[in-house]
Amino acid sequence: MGQLDGKVAWVSGGSGGIGSATLRRFVKEGAAVVCSDINDEDGEKLVQELKSAGGRATYSHCDVSDPDQVKASIDGTVEEFGRIDILFNNAATSTGGYVADLDLDGWDKSLKIMLSAALYGMKAAIPYMLKQGGGSIVSTSSIYGLVSTAGNAPYSTAKAGLINLTRTTAIEYGRKGIRANCVCPGAVETPMLDSVVGLGLKSREAIGDMHALGRTIQADEVANLVLFLAGEESSGITGQAIPIDGGLLIGCDLTGVPPLQ
Ligand SMILES: NC(=O)c1ccc[n+]([C@@H]2O[C@H](COP(=O)([O-])OP(=O)(O)OC[C@H]3O[C@@H](n4cnc5c(N)ncnc54)[C@H](O)[C@@H]3O)[C@@H](O)[C@H]2O)c1
Repeated sequence: MGQLDGKVAWVSGGSGGIGSATLRRFVKEGAAVVCSDINDEDGEKLVQELKSAGGRATYSHCDVSDPDQVKASIDGTVEEFGRIDILFNNAATSTGGYVADLDLDGWDKSLKIMLSAALYGMKAAIPYMLKQGGGSIVSTSSIYGLVSTAGNAPYSTAKAGLINLTRTTAIEYGRKGIRANCVCPGAVETPMLDSVVGLGLKSREAIGDMHALGRTIQADEVANLVLFLAGEESSGITGQAIPIDGGLLIGCDLTGVPPLQ
């Protein structure tokens, strides 16, 4: 018996690090899945892998900044698999820069992909979930939805907005059996972290050392939390923004006393 037997999941950003780890986990637990992304090559490859392992999986090209594409992809999910139980809003890309220098097109695009896209997904999926009598919505926020840092306004603004969109959705639809939660990862070993390290301002080791665990997080670890929130094991949890950050946000070192090595 898998935790998601009989369930159908739609995942955005499914070709990427956290998305692909989650899709593998969902399939292992019995779900039929739709991997949506704009990276068709990696998405198709993943779907082949999932099918070869006996899973039910489809790839759907979907640019989440376009509400029509999101609706078509989610409608297609229901056409193919008959329902949608899990909506995982996970795609992201962002521009950066100091606030007064931000490129407005980049700002709009970042907010569309990381915040409005979750709304597009909810607008498309919730009517189906209402008909079915429930569902679980999980969105990937970030520690930067909870705190901020220089040069990061589009990302941290979108990720913070996602948390309150999630709370509002949880309040509005809780009595209808629909739950909504966010995961808030610290530094996760994916291509996105490679691009942060690629800036050359902080090494991977230094980033890992900021976490109480003394290391970065693996995509599989995030996938485990997404699975928990997506499935029935978390039936009492809604409207939450749960850090999976290896203890990155729990401390503030003013004393210089080193942790035990
Ligand atoms: N890696 C980290 O350290 C970290 C930390 C906190 C939060 N996150 C969040 O985790 C989520 C997944 O990121 P990841 O680390 O797996 O990175 P990733 O770059 O591996 O995956 C992101 C995916 O989003 C897809 N994407 C980008 N723009 C898109 C668009 N317009 N439409 C559809 N798909 C699009 C990309 O093609 C890619 O497959 C993101 O929401 C990210 O903000 C990541």
